Amino acid sequence: MALFKKKQNQEITISDIQLPEHIGIIMDGNGRWAKKRGLPRSAGHTAGAQTFRKIARYCSDIGIKHLTVYAFSTENWRRPGDEVDALMRLFKDYLQEAIRDFKDDSIVLRFLGDRTAFSPELLSLMNENEEESCNRDGMILNIAMNYGGRAELVTAMQQMAQEVASGSLNPEDIDEQMISDHLYTKGQPDPDLIIRPSGENRTSNFLLWQSAYAEYVIMDVLWPDFTPNDLDSALIEYAKRNRRFGGV
Ligand code: FPP
Repeated sequence: MALFKKKQNQEITISDIQLPEHIGIIMDGNGRWAKKRGLPRSAGHTAGAQTFRKIARYCSDIGIKHLTVYAFSTENWRRPGDEVDALMRLFKDYLQEAIRDFKDDSIVLRFLGDRTAFSPELLSLMNENEEESCNRDGMILNIAMNYGGRAELVTAMQQMAQEVASGSLNPEDIDEQMISDHLYTKGQPDPDLIIRPSGENRTSNFLLWQSAYAEYVIMDVLWPDFTPNDLDSALIEYAKRNRRFGGV
């Protein structure tokens, strides 16, 4: 790989390496970032939303084709009401801003998850953003909202069971590709790299099926403090990995 053409003492930069096609990010550590500063958790999410804007733009600029961020899990509804409300406001602000200011952007916006739980206002902003951006040719930015890997698989299995019951699907034709085609990420490649800031070593129900062969990079920085330099470090770490996909 190009990475190893550089001499030992030369600094490796992202222009020397093969970039992943699809990056997933678990945007973790907002609460701890706020606590360290004596601020409410919602302040951590506000700072995290700014980091999200910066990193999404950076990924698009360096040529990443697919970015999936974990913004709200199916389990996050269990958080205190004021924290959930603050997150919904941040989603609304971003989606309004995207409709208003990103007219000439190349980024395609998509949402992964069960959207029936959102307010009608948020739901129409999600739909509007998808429609507005669907013919663009840049990075696909998937925002996972009310997303859970298990819930996604349950929904896929229910859909396939209905297709079997209606006679349009033969159970013997169910294979891995067909399952992938029933997920929210249908038509997109599996993530190559999943970055988890804040030091936790968990998948937290993120892209369970799709991450079968993803490389995980766990980083000690809290999400609001995450910078493009941290992303570069994760990309360089990823490029050093020897991906074997179960082979030798
Ligand atoms: C996990 O950190 C983070 C979340 C549950 C929310 C992530 C959401 C954002 C970064 C805002 C994104 C905004 C847009 C517009 C997509 P945590 O709160 O669990 O942190 P902790 O583990 O330190 O408590």
